[in-house]
Amino acid sequence: MSKKILVFGGSGLVGSKFIEIYNKTFEMLSPLASEVDILDKERLLKIVSEFNPDSIINFAAYTNVEEAQKQVGDKNGICFQINAVGAKNIAEVCKNLNKYLVHISTEYVFDGTKENAPYVEEDSPNPINWYGDTKYSGEKFVLESGVGGAIVRISMPYSPYYELKKDVARFFLEQLKSGNPIAAIEDQRITPTLVDDIANALNVIVERKVLGLYHVSARDSVTPLEFVKTIAETFNLDYRALSSITFDEYNKTKTAKLLKYSWLNPSKFEKEFGEGILHSVEENLITFKKAVDSRASN
Ligand SMILES: NC(=O)c1ccc[n+]([C@@H]2O[C@H](COP(=O)([O-])OP(=O)(O)OC[C@H]3O[C@@H](n4cnc5c(N)ncnc54)[C@H](OP(=O)(O)O)[C@@H]3O)[C@@H](O)[C@H]2O)c1
Repeated sequence: MSKKILVFGGSGLVGSKFIEIYNKTFEMLSPLASEVDILDKERLLKIVSEFNPDSIINFAAYTNVEEAQKQVGDKNGICFQINAVGAKNIAEVCKNLNKYLVHISTEYVFDGTKENAPYVEEDSPNPINWYGDTKYSGEKFVLESGVGGAIVRISMPYSPYYELKKDVARFFLEQLKSGNPIAAIEDQRITPTLVDDIANALNVIVERKVLGLYHVSARDSVTPLEFVKTIAETFNLDYRALSSITFDEYNKTKTAKLLKYSWLNPSKFEKEFGEGILHSVEENLITFKKAVDSRASN
């Protein structure tokens, strides 16, 4: 009999890919927020008891970084409630019912000042915006609950298709295709990660029920400017309308401060689970292109 996985946030950018790839491997249940609100602990307790899953994955989050900043300091605000209190509720229910939990987090728990190398699990969080703050609170609540499980930090996920939200790769691809001028940051480091790699990494994590903290991201890093050029080259598109902007210039235009060094190092994951699950930025873009092309031809 296949294992049962209960997924929160399965309609989102990342969770929907995990479900798309693994819905035949596992018996999965993925309630919408309207069906199971993670802020309703009684409801959570009921669904976990009734479905009785082997594992739970929590992708549910408030992910609008700019909107989040307007709620800075407000623990009754929706961002803190979902990212911190919701995570706490799920962790406590899992602890009570002795269930394995994978909680998804972000590189935004860091401050983005580490310029010599991407962030490893031993680096100390120090969030610089409210979204990061609430996600870090969520991590701490998960740890404090004493639940058996893993916290998996991911970085800049992108998908070949996801109607509800644009991501960094589809945004740049669209701009390149339409010939619009693009100003991309020349001095920020990022580890944009195809959602397929994240889903495949989560699959091995839930299969082995490992405990602890993991960074899951592209194996190498780029600047956004390099990323746009690589997208253009992969898709054979002209990038003459591409110009560069500095991180400081770009960051000035934002309500929520961004991370200059917005990068993760997935070496711990690869050491434990082997190479071949995660890919480089360039390899991921080739897979991304195949999926975009195949969708366009269907
Ligand atoms: N996107 C990024 O750039 C990024 C970067 C790093 C890390 N992450 C992390 O990756 C995870 C997944 O992010 P994502 O981009 O896939 O998220 P997303 O597309 O914004 O989707 C959010 C999900 O959370 C669910 N949700 C929101 N409020 C809820 C509630 N009260 N009860 C139950 N479910 C609720 C939504 O369900 P409904 O559709 O039913 O409302 C939706 O499925 C999050 O932990 C996020 O912090 C994301």
